[in-house]
Amino acid sequence: MGMDEQNGQPVISVTDLVKEYRGGVRAVDGVTFEVRRGENFGFLGPNGAGKTTTILTLITLLRPTSGRAVVCGHDVVAEPDRVRLRIGYVSQDIAVDDTLTGEENLYLQGRLYHLDRETIARRSREVLEMVDLTARARDLVMTYSGGMRKRLDIAGGLIHRPEVLFLDEPTLGLDVQTRRRIWDYIRLLREREGITVFMTTHYMEEADQLCDRIAIMDHGRIVAIGTPSELKAGIGGDLLTVDITTGRRGTRDGGVQPDGDGGLQDLLLTVPGIKQASRASDGRWVLVADRGEEAAPAVLEAVGRHGLRVNYLAMKKPTLDDVFLHYTGRQLREDEGQEDFSRRRTGLRRARM
Ligand SMILES: Nc1ncnc2c1ncn2[C@@H]1O[C@H](COP(=O)(O)OP(=O)(O)OP(=O)(O)O)[C@@H](O)[C@H]1O
Ligand SMILES: [Mg+2]
Repeated sequence: MGMDEQNGQPVISVTDLVKEYRGGVRAVDGVTFEVRRGENFGFLGPNGAGKTTTILTLITLLRPTSGRAVVCGHDVVAEPDRVRLRIGYVSQDIAVDDTLTGEENLYLQGRLYHLDRETIARRSREVLEMVDLTARARDLVMTYSGGMRKRLDIAGGLIHRPEVLFLDEPTLGLDVQTRRRIWDYIRLLREREGITVFMTTHYMEEADQLCDRIAIMDHGRIVAIGTPSELKAGIGGDLLTVDITTGRRGTRDGGVQPDGDGGLQDLLLTVPGIKQASRASDGRWVLVADRGEEAAPAVLEAVGRHGLRVNYLAMKKPTLDDVFLHYTGRQLREDEGQEDFSRRRTGLRRARM
């Protein structure tokens, strides 16, 4: 990859970054984080959190108000040209030209990076293959579906073999199937090309599926950062809800009969993996376990051994939504994106007229 000279060094390093727009909106309000080489790093947050603003400063299109950002070894304010040569960027709004073919779009993109005709032709073939558009390369983009346009857009961001690819909401407004295919391409980028991916999304599932590490952003700040499992573990563990019938007495093997709530609680806490046990107001037990899928059968076994019966058992893995709720007290809603997308599309159409 020829990246050995920076082995171990973060490929993106951001310190106390602030961006205040004219009019006083503090879109990014003191953000510090690092992205490692080869990592797929995600910015997750609701509309208006400051995700796009962060990306735009990292790709040198916006000047930070204060703080520092170093991308591929170069300061974004001091050496923007050097940064630009080493990164690719796919914007939140699809930016391909409808009146050209897929191939022609890639050619233009290649010229922007001063690639020669031969290199562009070779790279075009590679990236079109990767995003599965080879068969449509010579068709006008106006005949493409939304998902195909997005894939072409991503291909354009890859034409000059960037070290870091910035993807701003790569699947915004796309149907579930297309979204999953784009996820596959993003995974391929890292596996096959070793590219570092910095992406934003407000889809929790997307961040969960794709990102090695996630920063959860809200009101211009990072409220939590870590791997998806670290983030989820940070809020306690998996939740088991169990309804246990304690009415019957006596056990076949003459084992100890737990005595009332306290006894049952003690029993539950001896089950391997159970960290907490408390009784909810509806009488069910709520248990916290590091690995719920292993704790659940152990609970059934322990309870059965004491001649008690489990009437109901459910396990819930914490989601990133639970994590967001935990840190902000608000729900990160999936459906906000749809409305926002139609608003943006209208804006886009208007801008083009
Ligand atoms: N050019 C601008 N001028 C003034 N305010 C802006 C500008 N662009 C964005 N903002 C404001 O900055 C804040 C952060 O916006 P940003 O686009 O970075 O959020 P985002 O996390 O990308 O949101 P979304 O999920 O909707 O894309 C918002 O309050 C937004 O209104
Ligand atoms: Mg945005």
